[in-house]
Amino acid sequence: MITHLLSAADLDRSTATLVLDTATEMATVAGREVKKLPTLRGRTVVNLFYEDSTRTRTSFEVAAKRLSADVINFSAKGSSVSKGESLKDTALTLQAMGADAVVIRHSASGAPHRLARWVDGSVVNAGDGTHEHPTQALLDAYTMRARLGTLEGLRVAIVGDVLHSRVARSNVLLLATLGAKVTLVSPPTLLPVGVGTWPCAVSYDLDAVLGAVDVVMMLRVQRERMNDSYFPSAREYARRYGLDVARAARLPEHAIVMHPGPMNRGMEIAPEVADSARATIVEQVANGVSVRMAVLYLLLGGKS
Ligand code: CP
Repeated sequence: MITHLLSAADLDRSTATLVLDTATEMATVAGREVKKLPTLRGRTVVNLFYEDSTRTRTSFEVAAKRLSADVINFSAKGSSVSKGESLKDTALTLQAMGADAVVIRHSASGAPHRLARWVDGSVVNAGDGTHEHPTQALLDAYTMRARLGTLEGLRVAIVGDVLHSRVARSNVLLLATLGAKVTLVSPPTLLPVGVGTWPCAVSYDLDAVLGAVDVVMMLRVQRERMNDSYFPSAREYARRYGLDVARAARLPEHAIVMHPGPMNRGMEIAPEVADSARATIVEQVANGVSVRMAVLYLLLGGKS
């Protein structure tokens, strides 16, 4: 197993499969009356969040607690970061308190990689800028495998604001490793430079792609990261790239609809589609706990 989880590219096929298989084992804990394993007793996991989060932060906290680790939740808001303390000094302070693993979310792409050079423990990237979110990709792959049986040859469309999406980048890398066929569907203005070198196809036409997919993953339009006009209006975006009821009806019967959350209901996804039986959005959150338990267990479980 690896020391840190900074990128989906850190995972080769056998390691990624080991994480997913371990997550399947961890999922059985959720069904027990006492949802705890003693595996990480005496270990400390620090959640170091410089950016807002609902799902990821709470999911890592629940995962660490289910493995009996001690958890320190650090939020930049209300900390000495407001007095100018650097990431390095904050990290070294938390390490001095005995952190075995640091889970970091930061608005700067590459912050987890820097952190991994400064601290002794394992570093897990919980989302860095517009770069990567590897545990989201793992929980998405877990959800696809649980719903559809296999990832090999699975046809996955990832739709929307790819430019600002760390979820898209990590999913493309991981799904390619696991044998899925990914198509990014986006307006040209919301595709990153160099996307032609990614291991996936690209389309500008959602309607042309929808009839031949097993999975459609809608991405949040990240307006808070947009300092320019990337499309004429929210209404125009929804008309061309939103998954509304009529479009969802054209999906193959077995196809599932995913979204990493948080959602802009009515923009990239219609409320009726988000709440439909095809949608795995709440399931993805539940699976996130099992996947993060697996990641923490595999990173820390074998260390003394
Ligand atoms: N999917 C995801 O990363 O959600 P949060 O921003 O709520 O953690």
